[in-house]
Amino acid sequence: MTTDTAPATDRSFLFVLGSSRADGNTELLARTAAAQLPAGTPQRWVDLNTLPLPDFQDGRHETDDWPVGEAEEELRRATLEATDIVLATPLYWYTVSAQTKRYLDYWSGWLTAPGSDFKRRMAGRTLWGVTVMADDDESVADGLVTTLNNSAAYLRMRFGGVLLGNGSRPGQVRDDERAMIRAKTFFQGETPLALFPSERNA
Ligand SMILES: Cc1cc2nc3c(=O)[nH]c(=O)nc-3n(C[C@H](O)[C@H](O)[C@H](O)COP(=O)(O)O)c2cc1C
Repeated sequence: MTTDTAPATDRSFLFVLGSSRADGNTELLARTAAAQLPAGTPQRWVDLNTLPLPDFQDGRHETDDWPVGEAEEELRRATLEATDIVLATPLYWYTVSAQTKRYLDYWSGWLTAPGSDFKRRMAGRTLWGVTVMADDDESVADGLVTTLNNSAAYLRMRFGGVLLGNGSRPGQVRDDERAMIRAKTFFQGETPLALFPSERNA
């Protein structure tokens, strides 16, 4: 039997928290899903809100070396060490939070950093999303889902999809029974290679 998901023992998860507040709904939902990972699966949690990561500066086409800060280096290493990267971001203005977007912007720098080989090394890893929104209509998160799918497709990563939840004040996502149930099996889902829409329709 072939399976799209690697054996649990080979996998390690990086959870990247992108909310602007501590102990929010998105983290709660992500932790509910993470609790179901097989025992012993390495998990690392990084909270972008508390990491002093400056806005990304586009030095990709500069000849001088761009100074790499401690936070950037920690994130780059954590990203490359994980087989599975989970972007846990609230829905902000129908897309990922600024903190999450800033982290993704750094991926562009890592793509061209001398010797980093980021694109080749990210290929085949899996990107996941977890997001909570105030709106009851989950289709308003379509833009966020597309952003993550296309980002995964660009890097030839697998995409596990986005776990969606509803809530506004902290803790409210607990009342979203459907989301809490989905969280229980989220990481058991299929992780197909991500495709751009044009590749899917070809
Ligand atoms: C800056 C900002 C933008 C938001 N934009 C949206 C939005 O576009 N759609 C939506 O349904 N909720 C929106 N919300 C509500 C949050 O998604 C919701 O409060 C969520 O529970 C926050 O997640 P957290 O508890 O993990 O911080 C926004 C909240 C903030 C603070």
